[in-house]
Amino acid sequence: MELAAAELLNWSGELSVGVESMDREHRELALAINELHEAVVIDNQQGLTGPLLRKVVEVTRAHFSSEESLMAANQYPGLALHVFKHQYLLEQLEALLARFNRGGFKLNEHTVIFLRDWFKTHIQKEDAQFAVWLNENGKR
Ligand SMILES: [Fe+2]
Repeated sequence: MELAAAELLNWSGELSVGVESMDREHRELALAINELHEAVVIDNQQGLTGPLLRKVVEVTRAHFSSEESLMAANQYPGLALHVFKHQYLLEQLEALLARFNRGGFKLNEHTVIFLRDWFKTHIQKEDAQFAVWLNENGKR
């Protein structure tokens, strides 16, 4: 796969779920992933990997927690399954960070593409599903 653009995860209408707080946080997440991709893959600045990877983990954790709070506050029936999906990704990210912190691990294109694909699919499927439910049933 050819990666021409610096923006790995393009923020566009197709990623909007129609809930303002979620869209805002997803945009922030896309930004963090793009920064990591640009520094590590395009500019080959491995020195920036640590801080940028940590940022992705932090932004992800904060975003998941805020999304889960919104679901819990609205008694979303799909909460447990959604939390499970979030936990899966967070575990992958934590493992990645741990490997990086132990040293000798070089982040590569495949890792950022994995992150991009996971988020894109998650936003368009699970998050969009919740957003539709929220707009129909939620208290907001
Ligand atoms: Fe989510």
